[in-house]
Amino acid sequence: MSSIVSEIETQLHTGEFAEAVLAGLAQSRKSIPCRFLYDARGSELFEEITRLEEYYPTRTEIGLLKDHGAEIAERAGAGCAVVEFGSGSSRKTHILLEALTQASAYVPIDIDDAVLKEATSRLGADFPHLALYPVHADFSQDIRLPEEIEDTPKLGFFPGSTIGNFDLDSAVDFLADAGDLLGPKSDLLIGADLQKDTDILIPAYDDASGVTAEFTLNLLRRINRELDANFDVPRFAHRAVYNDDVGRIEIYIESLADQKVSVLGRPFTFKNGEDIHVENSHKFTVPQFKALAQDAGWETEQVWVDENDLFSMHYLTRP
Ligand code: AVJ
Repeated sequence: MSSIVSEIETQLHTGEFAEAVLAGLAQSRKSIPCRFLYDARGSELFEEITRLEEYYPTRTEIGLLKDHGAEIAERAGAGCAVVEFGSGSSRKTHILLEALTQASAYVPIDIDDAVLKEATSRLGADFPHLALYPVHADFSQDIRLPEEIEDTPKLGFFPGSTIGNFDLDSAVDFLADAGDLLGPKSDLLIGADLQKDTDILIPAYDDASGVTAEFTLNLLRRINRELDANFDVPRFAHRAVYNDDVGRIEIYIESLADQKVSVLGRPFTFKNGEDIHVENSHKFTVPQFKALAQDAGWETEQVWVDENDLFSMHYLTRP
């Protein structure tokens, strides 16, 4: 049996990158939303990050999925459609779908359509019984699900602790919106990275081989490529700091000199030491994450944590 593969449906706005960069650099505290880190090169570098020795989240979450796949399948029940927010390389999806032998459809939502195409063709070959409905969209914006799965029960899948990219209020909003999108009979399987010692956290976001630095600085290269800009990349540096008050890693691009840069013909000045904020990565405690899910209208049915207390996976249902 061959799978139904729908055309990739694009729900993205062009010009959004330019607007965000111009607005973000005009602020007194410069910042650019982290979703723009993921162009083709950025996605490739992030994939490399997930294989670094220092970056524990990916392998730990994969371990949790492998260990608890049968329990997840039992909760999800027969016939569900798996809807993944930010499908990335789909390595984890593969493990999940292997466990969910009775799933009926897979709906990857991703901002990068090369990533979507690759994931769709690979999963289509490996899971021929699944209907595939790729959606090219930014999952933090408004999205619509394909009509074909309107009446199918859904299992949302949001791995990687990508939820940690949002500030806490936006995380609640996102989870509530995800509930609306998935519908009243849906469940949500979501990964949340745990608070831990900075001896482990900092190297995970500032690795010895410099891959994370390259991932961060690729944002400047992307601005140079796409927005006719002239960032002198070696005169900027990647910085990862842990903000203890809010429990999150914050990533900055720091200017190493007083300098001027032009983007789409507009001038921007940087003082030596001035930075552009480019990403937050929240770390949670299990009770804190349960409270957050509850605020968004979800009920926590089960939480799995690895033996080293590094990472948590939560199975949420609609009350
Ligand atoms: C994709 C948001 C889960 O926060 O760990 C990793 C992004 N940035 N290293 C994370 C990231 C730098 C990652 N998430």
